[in-house]
Amino acid sequence: MQRLETPQELRALLAQWHPEGDRIALVPTMGNLHKGHVSLIKLARELADRVIVSVFVNPTQFGPNEDFEEYPRTLETDALKLMRAGADVLYAPSVETMYPEGPDNASRITVPNLSSELEGASRPGHFAGVASVVCRLFNMCYPNVAVFGQKDYQQFVILKRMARDLHLPVQLVAAPTVRSETGLALSSRNSYLNDAERNTAVVISQALNAINAQLEEGNRDFAALEKAATEQIAAAGLEPDYIAIRDAEDLSMPGAGSLHLVALAAARLGKVRLLDNILIELHD
Ligand code: PAF
Repeated sequence: MQRLETPQELRALLAQWHPEGDRIALVPTMGNLHKGHVSLIKLARELADRVIVSVFVNPTQFGPNEDFEEYPRTLETDALKLMRAGADVLYAPSVETMYPEGPDNASRITVPNLSSELEGASRPGHFAGVASVVCRLFNMCYPNVAVFGQKDYQQFVILKRMARDLHLPVQLVAAPTVRSETGLALSSRNSYLNDAERNTAVVISQALNAINAQLEEGNRDFAALEKAATEQIAAAGLEPDYIAIRDAEDLSMPGAGSLHLVALAAARLGKVRLLDNILIELHD
């Protein structure tokens, strides 16, 4: 596995791969890799000949009171994990490389509407930061395909829209969420939780599964289902932010006849904000 830090180094390598017609996959991450990331890399391996994994804790997607400073930076253990997972390149640019004018003066990509609801309502500017860094990574790595976690489902929908809207020649793929044995969605931020909190946090996936079960039984009272899930999560001691049932394609409000749905949840446990979602396929 090669470790690269600049677009110049990447370009030299891509120039070698290009004549061989290699298909390139990019897996963008912020590091602190867990089994969820490893599953993204495995999928990337199946979809391409070469796999680049970027590790960059992106300042522009953190709000002023968020955990940018504390975010776990574990590059050496990440590198070992990536080697074992079969990545060809670990790309870890510096903030100066990514944002030559500094993060505050960086050109930004905004995906309107979708970026200001759900996660975006609680984290203003977050998705502009995500879109801006992922667009840069696409421009540096020229991937044919990019793999993201389904866990950040709204992020995935927004990035797909950005790629389509800007005619970026890259296919975006979401890999299913990896969960602990109890059902908790794996996340780098779970490392902020103690054991008791991890057990409590399972209520989020339980509430989403309860929505799924009700929908499968034919219940289409979305508002009542969202309310029941919110109450279930609050009763366990979490502070729910939103529970929303949406169309899986574009996160629009579903109608009674919508068949491809996603149920999304965000809740706080102490200082930690936890996200989860499940895809729900209904039949006529
Ligand atoms: O999902 C993440 O880890 C980040 O938002 C991403 C896509 C790597 C952009 O910084």
